[in-house]
Amino acid sequence: EQQAIDSLFLVNQFAQEFFQTQLFDTDKGRSIGLSYFKQRGFREETLKKFGLGFAQNDMDALLRAGKLRGYNAELLKKLGLVTQYERDFFRDRVMFSIHNLTGKVIAFAGRIMAKDPKQPKYINSPETEIYYKSKVLYGIFFAKKAIRQFDECLLVEGYTDVISLHQAGIENVVASSGTALTPDQIRLIKRFTNNIKIIYDGDAAGIKAALRGLDLALAEDMNVRLVLLPDGEDPDSYIQKVGSEAFLLYLKEKGKDIVQFETELLLKEAGDDPTRRAGVLGQIANTISKIKNPLRRDEYVKVTRQVLGVDEGRMIFEINKLLRRDL
Ligand code: UTP
Ligand code: MN
Ligand code: MN
Ligand code: MN
Ligand code: MN
Repeated sequence: EQQAIDSLFLVNQFAQEFFQTQLFDTDKGRSIGLSYFKQRGFREETLKKFGLGFAQNDMDALLRAGKLRGYNAELLKKLGLVTQYERDFFRDRVMFSIHNLTGKVIAFAGRIMAKDPKQPKYINSPETEIYYKSKVLYGIFFAKKAIRQFDECLLVEGYTDVISLHQAGIENVVASSGTALTPDQIRLIKRFTNNIKIIYDGDAAGIKAALRGLDLALAEDMNVRLVLLPDGEDPDSYIQKVGSEAFLLYLKEKGKDIVQFETELLLKEAGDDPTRRAGVLGQIANTISKIKNPLRRDEYVKVTRQVLGVDEGRMIFEINKLLRRDL
């Protein structure tokens, strides 16, 4: 069993090295892949650190190389690197390696290099015995030391966001890879810190995604702050535009406690409608009721009741009602 697992890690390591060699040591890799990464502002040392690579436009380049190494097609299929029709799964894409907590390669993502509405921008390895999407945070291996050191984890959406921030010297950052946070991912972060700062784009989808993980994080007694970036920017584009100093200053100035953020957002949406405004009280009471620590609940009552313009007793009454219901 362990032997079977080890061979999966081994083949993934081989594939990463193959994609990396394709990127740096072939003419096509250099002229298509490397120039793509360079034009995006990524330096060679950064590409090497994160195990980035290149999959050429070839039916079975990886499959053939694997066979030469003595890896059979079944093993490559099991990892999703080769399809059931014995073709390479990743073709004509730049490649991202996904590592587990100990730095082993567990999966890959491949990105198209030119806009193409007929193809997904990124394709990812399927789930395998060593890759459970909902448990993985992209970049955690490279980030864990800095997360502990700064007692804070920055959470971004995408692979290139993590890589750009690292390159700019901000290393306590992981990506949820475009989905809402799962309980396993929150627990993974909690091994290193209780403080999460979510940095998403300021569009409606970014805000919704940020709020979806909220109750879970509160239930785990995490402090969650949210930073919305200017319209149309993601962490990668923004840090490449303004540099790390201005980026960090922006985080400091715009970071807002997520419960307070939710309160203000709901109030804004409710407008002058008294019924809807009353509903907001119930929604925020519900959010606060997820917090296990009673002292932290008290703190949140103090902050939010002011924004809501209700008295403390009323707020506590609403929360206690929900807490009793949950017993
Ligand atoms: P984005 O669309 O924001 O991409 O999706 P990105 O990270 O900024 O990538 P670049 O800068 O265009 O290269 C955020 C994340 O959602 C997942 C990926 O993990 C991506 O990093 N995603 C997105 C997919 O899995 N598939 C897709 O087709 C698109
Ligand atoms: Mn701590
Ligand atoms: Mn978005
Ligand atoms: Mn993005
Ligand atoms: Mn981007």
